[in-house]
Amino acid sequence: MSIWRVQGGYPLDGSMTIQGAKNAVLPVLAASILTGSEIELTNVPRLRDVEASLNILRHLGCAAQRQDDVVSVEPRGLTGCRIPRELTGRMRSSVIFLGAILARCGQVRIAMPGGCELGPRPVDLHLAAMKALGAEVSLEDGEIVCRTDGLVGGTVELALPSVGATENAMIAACGAKGTTVITGAAREPEIVELQGFLRALGADMEGAGTSVVTVRGFAPEPRVGWRVMPDRIAAATMLCACATAGGDVELRGVDPEHVRSVTDVLEGMGAGIHTGSRRLRIRCAGRLRGGQTVVTRPYPGFPTDAQPLMMAASLRADGVTVFEENIFSDRYRQGLEMIRMGARIEISGRRAVVTGVERLHGAQVLAEDLRGGASLIVAGLGAEGETVVTDRGHVARGYEGLDRALAALGAHIDFTE
Ligand code: UD1
Repeated sequence: MSIWRVQGGYPLDGSMTIQGAKNAVLPVLAASILTGSEIELTNVPRLRDVEASLNILRHLGCAAQRQDDVVSVEPRGLTGCRIPRELTGRMRSSVIFLGAILARCGQVRIAMPGGCELGPRPVDLHLAAMKALGAEVSLEDGEIVCRTDGLVGGTVELALPSVGATENAMIAACGAKGTTVITGAAREPEIVELQGFLRALGADMEGAGTSVVTVRGFAPEPRVGWRVMPDRIAAATMLCACATAGGDVELRGVDPEHVRSVTDVLEGMGAGIHTGSRRLRIRCAGRLRGGQTVVTRPYPGFPTDAQPLMMAASLRADGVTVFEENIFSDRYRQGLEMIRMGARIEISGRRAVVTGVERLHGAQVLAEDLRGGASLIVAGLGAEGETVVTDRGHVARGYEGLDRALAALGAHIDFTE
């Protein structure tokens, strides 16, 4: 059990570099087993989900090593095609290995990830994509099973722009004969990143960042080096932290375009935002203004992962801030904890209405998921007294040294594992 103790009331001041992106490196690690090529990834964040992925790779028979921020994967010796429950339970997004293992081995068995933190997270679109490429799909003893005598390119029509299903389809299509056209694709920056990595690995493909991705073929390169893009949700977290605590913070190594929907809302609340080349600066003095409506949508809309963080920033804003969550059905649990800190929040279905209060007070609160947990730490920065966040390791799944990063900017924060 991890405990975060936050003493509120200290503004943030200084400059920091944003970590490599969790949601970019996970599909890249999965895709790295498509061939026997040697892979070297840099800017790989130290996160529980990354370590869980490396353990999956080792379990499958690949060599995977880390030195500082560099991870090397040697997938030549891949022998296994099954990921058991002990390994999927540690990381819900392990379904991202489906397409890569199927393409490489012709079969795959993955235990359905246990539990669920944001409402139901079905995998029907992932399975439909594998079927569209010629795989037989079944569920056996709680495991997803896919088999094929050879994947064949085809049209994958995604009914929803699912990030994971788009990534799985792109990866599997690299192992298919002929051309694959994915329609209704997600357009997140992590999809563009995956296309960049797959091209470096030898894929002939285009379209990532639009809703149609085409994969024409694949001729593997023996060695690939790849630098992981900056984490836009980690950047959004620090922006919301500064908006909550007040202060003046510069983020280095970010792509300001990736967080534009977040900075637009913060500017509307009265924060000063300055963008430069791979830099972002936020300045906040005094009370922010409410009045915004934050509607989560697929990229380039406002990211669902930043919704709890923006909620933390809105708690003391002057006026009403309305949230509409359109991606996940159960993503306001942090709001119930924030109410314990004196926040005024009314939650009804997809909507949450925050009426800003002048003061929040520290409380004992529970982190029930990754971004929700981070949002409680952020809320604590703006509360009087001590906030104690109890966390079963959720936050470490996605943030590298969040306590050290905030403390270096002047926050009073203590983390014990
Ligand atoms: C990814 C991100 C996660 C982010 C989410 C939405 C990773 C590792 N995780 O998750 O941080 O919150 O995108 O931006 O990149 N859906 C289905 N059937 C499916 C798949 C998804 O109905 O087969 C639904 C989901 O329930 C959800 C919506 O589609 O309502 C979006 O989910 P999706 O984009 O797939 O999220 P993930 O890829 O799991």
